[in-house]
Amino acid sequence: MGKIRAAISGVAGYVPDGVITNQDLEQMVETNDEWILSRTGIKERRILRDPTKATSDMAVEAIKVLLAQKAISPEEIDMIIVGTVTGDYVFPDTANLIAHKIGATNAFGFDINAACSGFIFSLVTASKFIETGTHKKILVVGADKMSSIVNYEDRATCILFGDGAGVVLLEPDTEGVGIEDSILRADGSGSQFLFQKAGGSLHPATAETVKNKEHFAYQEGRVVFKAAIKGMSDSIREIMKNNELSQDDIDYVIAHQANKRIIHGVADMLGFDKEKVLVNIENYGNTTAATIPLCLRDFESKFKKGDRIILTAFGGGFTWGSILLKWAY
Ligand code: COA
Repeated sequence: MGKIRAAISGVAGYVPDGVITNQDLEQMVETNDEWILSRTGIKERRILRDPTKATSDMAVEAIKVLLAQKAISPEEIDMIIVGTVTGDYVFPDTANLIAHKIGATNAFGFDINAACSGFIFSLVTASKFIETGTHKKILVVGADKMSSIVNYEDRATCILFGDGAGVVLLEPDTEGVGIEDSILRADGSGSQFLFQKAGGSLHPATAETVKNKEHFAYQEGRVVFKAAIKGMSDSIREIMKNNELSQDDIDYVIAHQANKRIIHGVADMLGFDKEKVLVNIENYGNTTAATIPLCLRDFESKFKKGDRIILTAFGGGFTWGSILLKWAY
């Protein structure tokens, strides 16, 4: 029997019905469609408007589709890992809520807080449980209700983010497909450039923190922009070198969808054809941990068994990294 690898055996996603277009934003802050489109590539974002619904509910919708596609019951799931920065509560973990809502009574799980790198951090973590043989069916979720932490009076951030959820099923494979390698990195010295100031144990919620709008995402865009291009391209270069691969050996690159200029900047730095670098940011904006699984869902029909794909992300923390995998179906 070959080495056990963790393979993505299915993917699904969910975005809410509510839409905020660039034209809508023109009515809310001093901005315009041309600026947003040329600086970010975003045309619209989906927003979860129902105040009784949260991140777990979007994830549940995505998981229902996936379980139906794969014809498996929730009791067969043995683990759920959720990349998110907008869990339903500070505690308990959203993974617990999701397990309860879908009836995954044999699963345990937890959340991973790595911002826009949340999905790749979760996928690598899950892969280790598969590779050791202890777990057979893991749901890896990337989901964020960014509208719950976006200040719609701040044009520097409100144009960027949207809500959504994506999920993959991770299963063991011994036929040579699945996750081949990964590089994950973190640098806490970047924490102040992209973060939510209040609501944690350093600055718990007070009337003052609410008044000062410190429960929203804060970002210094230019610093993050440069660090994102560097982090993603460095980790892709390193993973290709470690595996003795050239650009011709890679079928697709799926980068965290933060900004079309960042994605194309990475492609240009590494000399990848633009057709290999998949982009769907125009429809959803930056959905934080959900962008990569939503991209996998949207472009799933392109992939063939054995295709070599690189997933790469950069996010608050700072956190970043890349995953090299062979598509399994
Ligand atoms: N509409 C119109 N003008 C805007 C604007 C908006 N929404 N936001 C900023 N501007 C203005 C600025 O005030 C500035 O004006 P000035 O030149 O008169 O001072 C000008 O546009 C350029 O601002 P700048 O912040 O330098 O723009 P940018 O090219 O860096 O683009 C971001 C801003 C946020 C789109 C970009 O920095 C970015 O995408 N950063 C990374 C964000 C990200 O991906 N984060 C998620 C985690 S990876």
